[in-house]
Amino acid sequence: MADTLTPEAPIYQTDALIASDIDAYLDTHQHKTMLRFITCGSVDDGKSTLIGRLLYDSKMIFEDQLAALEADSKRVGTQGQEIDFALLVDGLAAEREQGITIDVAYRFFATEKRKFIVADTPGHEQYTRNMVTGASTADLAVILIDARKGVLVQTRRHSYLAHLIGIRNIVLAVNKMDLVDYDQAVYDGIVKDYAEFARSIGITDFTAMPISGFKGDNITGSSANTPWYKGPSLIEHLETVEVDTERLSARPFRMGVQWVNRPNLDFRGFSGLIGSGVIRPGDAVRVLPSGKTSTVKSIVTYDGDLEQAVAGQSVTLTMADEIDCSRGDVITIADAPTEVADQFESTIVWMDEAEMLPGRPYLMKIGTSTVTATITEPKYEVCVNTLVHQAAKTLALNGIGVCNISTDRAIPFEAYADNPDLGGFILIDRMTNRTVAAGMIHFALRRSQNIHWQATDITREHHAAMKNQTACVLWLTGLSGAGKSTIANIVEKKLAASGRHTFLLDGDNVRHGLNKDLGFTDADRVENIRRVGEVAKLMTDAGLIVITAFISPFRAEREMVRSMMQPGEFIEVHIDTPLAEAEKRDVKGLYKKARSGQLKNFTGIDSPYEAPENPEIRIDTAAMSAEDAADAIIAQLNAGWAYTI
Ligand code: ADX
Repeated sequence: MADTLTPEAPIYQTDALIASDIDAYLDTHQHKTMLRFITCGSVDDGKSTLIGRLLYDSKMIFEDQLAALEADSKRVGTQGQEIDFALLVDGLAAEREQGITIDVAYRFFATEKRKFIVADTPGHEQYTRNMVTGASTADLAVILIDARKGVLVQTRRHSYLAHLIGIRNIVLAVNKMDLVDYDQAVYDGIVKDYAEFARSIGITDFTAMPISGFKGDNITGSSANTPWYKGPSLIEHLETVEVDTERLSARPFRMGVQWVNRPNLDFRGFSGLIGSGVIRPGDAVRVLPSGKTSTVKSIVTYDGDLEQAVAGQSVTLTMADEIDCSRGDVITIADAPTEVADQFESTIVWMDEAEMLPGRPYLMKIGTSTVTATITEPKYEVCVNTLVHQAAKTLALNGIGVCNISTDRAIPFEAYADNPDLGGFILIDRMTNRTVAAGMIHFALRRSQNIHWQATDITREHHAAMKNQTACVLWLTGLSGAGKSTIANIVEKKLAASGRHTFLLDGDNVRHGLNKDLGFTDADRVENIRRVGEVAKLMTDAGLIVITAFISPFRAEREMVRSMMQPGEFIEVHIDTPLAEAEKRDVKGLYKKARSGQLKNFTGIDSPYEAPENPEIRIDTAAMSAEDAADAIIAQLNAGWAYTI
């Protein structure tokens, strides 16, 4: 063991660390900077051995684990009497497989100069998802190469992902040098190959080193076996490389507001983690998106007021003025604010089993704010192995692509490459609550800044008043053959007969015109409903009573249309006909075709229908005729809500 390393008290028994362990650990090393890094490589490249070696050399293993390790190594015996570090890490991985599955395991160790967190991302198939999760907060990536194999497809993939996630410090660890007799020519050849590839994907610099995780060469100090290598050992490099918080401190000040701290009437402060820059009392600041300005009065922390705070610190700022500022807002230095926009080009890494549905509203968490976002236009997908761009309409699990995305309101942001805190986001499915994607903003689309809402003088209220009615949308949903079109048609006739101004949008008809480019994949159905929702919205603005008859099988899109309308304006009507009944009627003969396999993606057969949970109106078609159903709908309309029809 080299003397630069301090043996630390071990703080864990398994790799399933709990938050209090992490806090206790970080407390004892508070004065040191922390470097977060990720190791990329498969078990064959010696990843486990290297991590085991780092933990062992910094004594982050319990004595009893060590004893077990020595015993195991002897039993396995393939590598002589030396300790097989891979057994340690792989043993922990085996434990993990039996218990809770965690995608990324974090391991901790420390030297005299720094503390470290290594994200270990197991798994081959889920590699992209795991690696993106593990690397999202990393300052550095160690790309492991087996000296006998050289640069492989997976080396390219790992490097591409590390670069994509914005990791600036890349270490090319040419491992297993002992197995190529520490041959400089082998090492030089690999470094040259890698440099060529790295340049092609925009990695401008990297640090290469010849190592052996197994034998310990160039891990903690320089190895006598590689006299030709003059660079630092891995630990020396990890101890001195610039961490991201140092870099981010040099950028303009930005802090996302996590909460407004108002314990009593005399104190009001804005709390958050400083994403970039430096702040001092007296600095002029601007709150975004509102643009309001003020001056910092004090920087409050648990340990007293500060004269200055930098990126990476959690603080509470008080202001000289009473300004409006709430969770999700961003406080920036006044003379260098961020841009604010609602449409972006970004890279999306898809992480869910269910494929991306352009047009579907997802929750987007960016900085401290949560907004609704839709992917408006997938542009292309990048094949992680070949880096070739392919045209794409959607992304499947582990797919990476460049897409346009739009948010329901303007948000302060920065390009991810400049500031991951305000340029990185995740997308969450609103129904399943799963994180479905990670994204990185490139830039705002110019059109979002140049198209403004035009206020018109004849308002929607005018339009409705001239028709002597209140606009609304009667949204009929149900299986194909449930009776939607028939009932909608009767409802419209009856409303028209009583002098109402109506319009009926029917699935089959709209699909002949506006939506004739759409089929029946999930993605196309989402887009179908999005467009119909927009048209229905324009029609309600025109003061009409809109009746729609679309299967509209997904709750998410029906809820999206609801949220586009004024409160109470969207009336969901479930035309509830059981599948067996709709199939028995089979008016258009489509169920028969679907059952025989001639028609794919048919709702209820091989494509899902998500019935409404709380529709405003439910029509049980087994219990009444279409005529009665129409009467029931109109009766409810007359009786219900504020609508007098
Ligand atoms: S939706 O799912 O996107 O809302 P929409 O209501 O527009 O569907 O269209 C449904 C109509 O298209 C059905 O009534 C049926 O006549 C026809 N159709 C053709 N193929 C399919 C299919 N695979 N699934 C459902 N309906 C289909």
